[in-house]
Amino acid sequence: MSARNLARTLFRSVAPRVAASVSRPLFASVASRVAPASSSVFVQTRGIKTMDFGGTKETVYERSDMPKEKLIEYFKNDTMAVLGYGPQGRGQSLNMRDNGLNVIIGVRKDGRSWKQAVSEGWVPGKNLFSIEEAAEKGTYLMNLLSDAAQRDLWKIVKPYVTPGKTLYFSHGFAITYNDQTGVVPPKDVDVILCAPKGSGYTLRTLFQEGKGLNSSIAVFQDVTGKAKEKSVAVGIAIGSGYLYETTFQKEVYSDLYGERGILMGAIYGLFRAQYDVLRANGHSPSEAFNETVEEATQSLYPLIGEKGMDWMYSNCSVTAQRGALDWHQKFYDAASPLFKALYKSVVDGTEVKRALDKNSQPDYRESLEVELKEIDDSELWRAGKTVRSLRPENSK
Ligand SMILES: NC(=O)c1ccc[n+]([C@@H]2O[C@H](COP(=O)([O-])OP(=O)(O)OC[C@H]3O[C@@H](n4cnc5c(N)ncnc54)[C@H](OP(=O)(O)O)[C@@H]3O)[C@@H](O)[C@H]2O)c1
Repeated sequence: MSARNLARTLFRSVAPRVAASVSRPLFASVASRVAPASSSVFVQTRGIKTMDFGGTKETVYERSDMPKEKLIEYFKNDTMAVLGYGPQGRGQSLNMRDNGLNVIIGVRKDGRSWKQAVSEGWVPGKNLFSIEEAAEKGTYLMNLLSDAAQRDLWKIVKPYVTPGKTLYFSHGFAITYNDQTGVVPPKDVDVILCAPKGSGYTLRTLFQEGKGLNSSIAVFQDVTGKAKEKSVAVGIAIGSGYLYETTFQKEVYSDLYGERGILMGAIYGLFRAQYDVLRANGHSPSEAFNETVEEATQSLYPLIGEKGMDWMYSNCSVTAQRGALDWHQKFYDAASPLFKALYKSVVDGTEVKRALDKNSQPDYRESLEVELKEIDDSELWRAGKTVRSLRPENSK
């Protein structure tokens, strides 16, 4: 569906139900931005637009296109069943609840997620259920179990994926690698995706601050002709910033690649390598940590986020700029083959096989925690704790 058609559909799906009362706030976001009364109100909405991303045009969707009143209207007959209460299940469900939607949680009884959900106000039997009960009650089945659990529990969830319901994911993982996961949805339901680009914790805190994490949206199956419209509406309901379009396959390829790369794996590898060389050359932990992590996270990286790389460079000394401009190419050349190997390992399914094998072990959480504790116990991050405790705001 083209962006303009989607704009019309999004508007139409709400407009007839509100036309009788001419609900001003609902129309205001659209009507105030369209041409005088004689022209069609369906012509433009502020939220759906084509933007230039460095020379390539992409269609994006924004929160302003679906204000809270519209969301409530759009989902008034729906029950959003969030299966799983990990970082995403938690963030998405709390944001939808705050947006006025009817949300229920499905998790295994008395597990860690169940206890956390209870502690955050979800009530057993009212809006907190077993996975099966929630899947039975929901019209949107939002599969936010861990990726390994999506494979292991598909036989339990699948019987509830019935005509009229919408199956939702936040990762293209289960569907794209269905040769390994076995997740093949029935042909008669819409299957959509909205993948926040960041942790559920950030999704929640940014939403509470009136900000938003960007998310990608995709459609795998469109039975009703409304699958894309639904993905936009849910994407906004869970508290996203702007939404951009992708496919299930591209989402999972870029996501697995990015998190193993610069977002998490590569950045830690680089931190470690730089820190260790400084320490091996007699620099103190305080100096090594400040020159590696603290200056990056507290000073320079926020500047990149705020105004871009060149702006960060131009706000450093010319000595620093000269060095960075000279050395970035060497790091690019050294890292490029590794990134190519990583992308290949994602596409050929190696990364998925490893994630599924490891994360479906009964003690998966415990063994991950052992590895995380090793990081926490390392000199680098123990030094980091001391550095953080010395930040003026933490010294009281
Ligand atoms: N975290 C992110 O940054 C992020 C970002 C975008 C998209 N995603 C995607 O969002 C989805 C959810 O990710 P997440 O990070 O929120 O979740 P997660 O931490 O990977 O898993 C969360 C949930 O899975 C449940 N679970 C695991 N094994 C189970 C089993 N055998 N039986 C029943 N429940 C089981 C856990 O319940 P218990 O507590 O009972 O074990 C928990 O509620 C995934 O598809 C992920 O790829 C994640």
